[in-house]
Amino acid sequence: MHAIEQEVFSDPWSTQDFRDCVTFALFLVAEAEGERIAGYIVALDAADEGEILNLAVAAAGRRRGLGRALVEQTLEALRARGVRHVYLEVRESNASARALYASLGFSEVGRRKGYYRRPVEDAIVLRLDA
Ligand SMILES: CC(C)(COP(=O)(O)OP(=O)(O)OC[C@H]1O[C@@H](n2cnc3c(N)ncnc32)[C@H](O)[C@@H]1OP(=O)(O)O)[C@@H](O)C(=O)NCCC(=O)NCCS
Repeated sequence: MHAIEQEVFSDPWSTQDFRDCVTFALFLVAEAEGERIAGYIVALDAADEGEILNLAVAAAGRRRGLGRALVEQTLEALRARGVRHVYLEVRESNASARALYASLGFSEVGRRKGYYRRPVEDAIVLRLDA
């Protein structure tokens, strides 16, 4: 996951960020041939709200439905825990992720000015009512 994170994001999570999350977050990985990790998703839930914190698919494994499958299975797991509203932030310029979330029914509910670093960019806040 660390290798994919470094490949995919300009401001990646550290190994420690992943370790910290493993203890309390919902974590799913997608496996490619040979049990290699091809992607992952990290989400949290509290009462009736959930949040997707991280999602990535290795460049070599994209456009095969892995990203969609990771989000759909996470939504199912969150609903099973009583979550009714799921939030996430996405870079304004991230057209592929925004297309994925829109196709799953997420809609824009806000903007966080200058939320991201390297480069600084606004976050679009998305919500799905489960
Ligand atoms: C966003 C990401 C997870 C999508 O993973 P993926 O496995 O390629 O996605 P899927 O194959 O399941 O695609 C699902 C849908 O997303 C949209 N999509 C994915 N990649 C796209 C692209 N490059 N351009 C336009 N739409 C795209 C399409 O609607 C697609 O459906 P379709 O293939 O039926 O047209 C992947 O591109 C990625 O890891 N990006 C970098 C990290 C990132 O942006 N994470 C999200 C942070 S909020």
